[in-house]
Amino acid sequence: MHIVTTIPEMQARVRLWKQVGLRIAFVPTMGNLHAGHLDLVQAAREAADRVVVSIFVNPLQFDEAEDFAAYPRTLEADLAKLAECGVDAVFTPAEETLYPQGRQDITFVEVPGLGEILEGAHRPGHFRGVTTVVAKLFHIVQPEVAVFGEKDFQQLLIVRRMVADLDFPVTILARPTVREADGLAMSSRNRRLDPGQRRIATALYRVLRETAEALRRGGEPAALERAAMARLEAAGFRPEYVAIRAAADLGPPRPGTPGVVLGAARLGSVRLIDNVQIETVTE
Ligand code: PAF
Repeated sequence: MHIVTTIPEMQARVRLWKQVGLRIAFVPTMGNLHAGHLDLVQAAREAADRVVVSIFVNPLQFDEAEDFAAYPRTLEADLAKLAECGVDAVFTPAEETLYPQGRQDITFVEVPGLGEILEGAHRPGHFRGVTTVVAKLFHIVQPEVAVFGEKDFQQLLIVRRMVADLDFPVTILARPTVREADGLAMSSRNRRLDPGQRRIATALYRVLRETAEALRRGGEPAALERAAMARLEAAGFRPEYVAIRAAADLGPPRPGTPGVVLGAARLGSVRLIDNVQIETVTE
């Protein structure tokens, strides 16, 4: 497995592979890898001839300095897991390598509308940071395929929109959320939960799932959202939103089309997000 820290070295490796007709699948990550990431890597292996994984804790997408500082950095353990999965190259640049001009007054990539609601409204600048770094990484790695998890459902839609709007020659593959045995979506932030918070955390998925079921039975979306917020609060969360939306564009739910229930809630300083998809919103 090649461990690459510079842009010219990554580009040279990609060029060598492309010259002999090999296709590249890419998994961007911020490290602290868990089974959810390894599932994305497995999907990448099945989708192309060579797999590149990036590990970069992207400062541009953190709206809270404290969250950026606390983000777990476990490079050695991550590299061992990726080597075991048969990854071909890991791109792990320093901040100065990706952002030599600093974090401000640089060119940003931004998806308006979709990037400003839900997560975007609660975390100003977050999606601009995500799309900027993903666009840069796509230019450097030049993958034919890139794999993203459905846990970050809004991020997935935004990356797809960016790829369509900017004509990136990349196919975006989505993988379902990988969960702990009790349903909690796997996330690097879970390890910051204390044992009491960890017990409460499982309620997020349960409430979203039951909200989706109630919608299927014909419940009224706004009333279901309010009830879900109250249930999360009663469980010990500080809920930020529960939203029932159309799965295609996160607009209002449209009967007869796929929907999604999304939620974000805090337990102490840890912010959790999750979602449950609905095959068809009831007529
Ligand atoms: O989903 C993530 O881990 C990050 O948002 C990503 C896509 C690696 C960009 O930094």
